[in-house]
Amino acid sequence: MKKKLLALAEKHGTPLFILDHEKIRKNYRIFKKNLPRVQCYYAVKANSNQEIIKTLFDEGSSFDVASYNEFMQVYEYLKHFEEKDKDFFIWDKIIFSNTIKDPETLRKIKRYRPLVTYDNSDELKKIKGHCDTAGLVLRLKVPDTGSQVEMSSKFGAEPGDANHLIRQAFDAGLVVEGLSFHVGSQCTNFDNYTAALAITSEIFHEARKKGYNPKIVDIGGGFPVPYDAQVPRFEKLAQLINAECQRLFPEDIEIIAEPGRFIVATAATLISEIIGKARRDGKIFYYINDGVYHTFSGVVYDHWIPNFHSFGRGEKEVCAVVGPTCDSFDKVSLSEQLPGNLGIGDYLYTENIGAYSIASSTKFNGFDGARIIHIY
Ligand SMILES: Cc1ncc(COP(=O)(O)O)c(C=O)c1O
Repeated sequence: MKKKLLALAEKHGTPLFILDHEKIRKNYRIFKKNLPRVQCYYAVKANSNQEIIKTLFDEGSSFDVASYNEFMQVYEYLKHFEEKDKDFFIWDKIIFSNTIKDPETLRKIKRYRPLVTYDNSDELKKIKGHCDTAGLVLRLKVPDTGSQVEMSSKFGAEPGDANHLIRQAFDAGLVVEGLSFHVGSQCTNFDNYTAALAITSEIFHEARKKGYNPKIVDIGGGFPVPYDAQVPRFEKLAQLINAECQRLFPEDIEIIAEPGRFIVATAATLISEIIGKARRDGKIFYYINDGVYHTFSGVVYDHWIPNFHSFGRGEKEVCAVVGPTCDSFDKVSLSEQLPGNLGIGDYLYTENIGAYSIASSTKFNGFDGARIIHIY
């Protein structure tokens, strides 16, 4: 593998973001195989590269989008269906799962009769005012203890407010089609899913008793990636979800999920290059041509712990790896075990960097960010 990476770096230059589409397909198939009842809506935000959307679309995936631009990135592959097939239903392919949408976005997506989430009364009024063709999914606040990225401090209706928010929607002439939650990203505490499904089930059955007819349960994202050996296995989580869904929800309920990280994280490798070296307070600092403003943005936004591997051998010591910008904040890691004898022009590589990396890369200091290449 190292030889292959080196050849790619020599051919294309660095920083180089290598996307393996066979791995994306494999991750998608593992997800589907282990959760046969669940339709996968890939969360485009994790990595919105158009080629990923194309690969997953060809596999049969649906998509979770957060903005009008993401919506149109997916719609690109749907427009001909809409023209040809009058029974085509955009909900089968897209859920707009950002609970807060600006009025202009709502006006722009109105003509597509979208499926959108909400979690409060003001959003409901906004949807009614600007996009009354939408079907609604009520997002619930659920426990996210121990997840790498928590969600519940910003999103989700208190379970105690759910009945009221459902009634309010129907009173306004809108239809609540389902319930959703997100247990936090990279969720390794599976009790979060158990608790979230229990909360959802209670509200679901209460709504049915009241004569409402929710048909969709959206179990969100959070499915953990094996970044290290401590991460509990996805297959175990899938067993739990399957059993709980069967126990809690009738057969005719559609279960959907919005995995992001799980589909793309392990599908990318980054090759960076050492462009400077200094010893500071006794520690070697390797300056590389990528950093936290670029492909390593997940270190900031995603609480991601990076990994670095060298191609050359040598006695290892604790080194710092820092980015190329003039900001002293641009430190990727202060404790990497790397050979101390690496020099300018040597490459490093980083695995499992497909999610929340290039998605939030900037052009800070005028650096373009990594070149992306696709392996099919
Ligand atoms: C609404 C929603 N759905 C799905 C996801 C994807 O989550 P993950 O990458 O943990 O699977 C996110 C991540 O931020 C999200 O906000």
